[in-house]
Amino acid sequence: MFTDSWNLMNTSLKKSQWTTAHGRLPSAFRLLPSALCLVPSAFRLLPSAFCLLLSGCAGVQSSLDPAGPQADHIARIWWLMLFILSAIFVIVMALLALATWRRRASADNETELILKPEAGGESRMSTLVTTGVVITVFVLFILLISSFLTGRSLHSLAASNPQPLTIDITGQQWWWQVKYENDMPSQMVTTANEIHIPVGRIVQFKLKSNDVIHSFWVPNLHGKTDLIPGHVAATWIRADRPGIYRGQCAEFCGHQHAHMAFTVVVETEEQFKHWYDAQLLAAAQPANTQLARGQQVFMTSTCIMCHRIQGTDAGGAVGPDLTHVASRLTIAAGTLANTRDNLANWILDSQAIKPGNRMPPNPLNTEDLSALLDYLQSLK
Ligand code: CUA
Repeated sequence: MFTDSWNLMNTSLKKSQWTTAHGRLPSAFRLLPSALCLVPSAFRLLPSAFCLLLSGCAGVQSSLDPAGPQADHIARIWWLMLFILSAIFVIVMALLALATWRRRASADNETELILKPEAGGESRMSTLVTTGVVITVFVLFILLISSFLTGRSLHSLAASNPQPLTIDITGQQWWWQVKYENDMPSQMVTTANEIHIPVGRIVQFKLKSNDVIHSFWVPNLHGKTDLIPGHVAATWIRADRPGIYRGQCAEFCGHQHAHMAFTVVVETEEQFKHWYDAQLLAAAQPANTQLARGQQVFMTSTCIMCHRIQGTDAGGAVGPDLTHVASRLTIAAGTLANTRDNLANWILDSQAIKPGNRMPPNPLNTEDLSALLDYLQSLK
């Protein structure tokens, strides 16, 4: 809207200059009155446009739709800055328009342009400049204080619970390894690209990387935290609203950075416990000959080199743990929904979907592929 009125203002200025110099209007300017008639109707649309804009703030990957205290602190300071800075923008534009208008009015009278110091003009100018400086410092001070308070609130969550649920996240090119810490190794859960957390519980994420810098970001829950090779970073969140939220790597980390997403499932304590207990189990053993054939295909192909299926000989750690792959919502780090067709295409030629990832093409025949898909889909 600002740009439009700015353009319109520019256009009408040029129009008056042009008319003075040449005494006629080019055809584009003859359309100006009709264009101006459209302005009131455009203004009538403003409320709907504003609502549309605000509705864009909601969603499963939005900092402005906070589902926990951390994201809420960040959203508040964002709105505060938006309102203050928008007000400054409007005021500055209004003053600019006023100055332009006054300059044009005084220029109409040529004799006024002769240099002649205006009585009291200098002291008025210095008052104006001082006021401007004071207001600027005051506004910057407000922003500084609110930014400091937000930072302090963000850290308060870490101190409020000495024994949070701790999840180790390792950034890989281009997926996320997820490990739930536990004093007993048999109670640790390893999964990939999907994090389940109970609603209302404080969760500590320990973040590291094995290759390049990534950044862990779930906009609905918290700001970004970088994963730096050779360093363990920590961040704390609490989700107060059950739901499924999308996280995204927020630091350019190579070819498939944009396809390095993950899912955070916030659920009740019972649902979480149910999920966790299921994840602790070893993979289901093949219940029929078709599934047994699928497992055989997995064990005798390149899959076994990179993936782990707990309870089998597959123990690779290059790619995601597949022990309960069928229980996940997406595959390929949030790139595809976890459907049979997507899984098939991914296995056959993942390079066509996510070029540069470390999984080679697997040209399987139809029967083997079908058996492998049956087997993978049985790993709930
Ligand atoms: Cu990992 Cu961008």
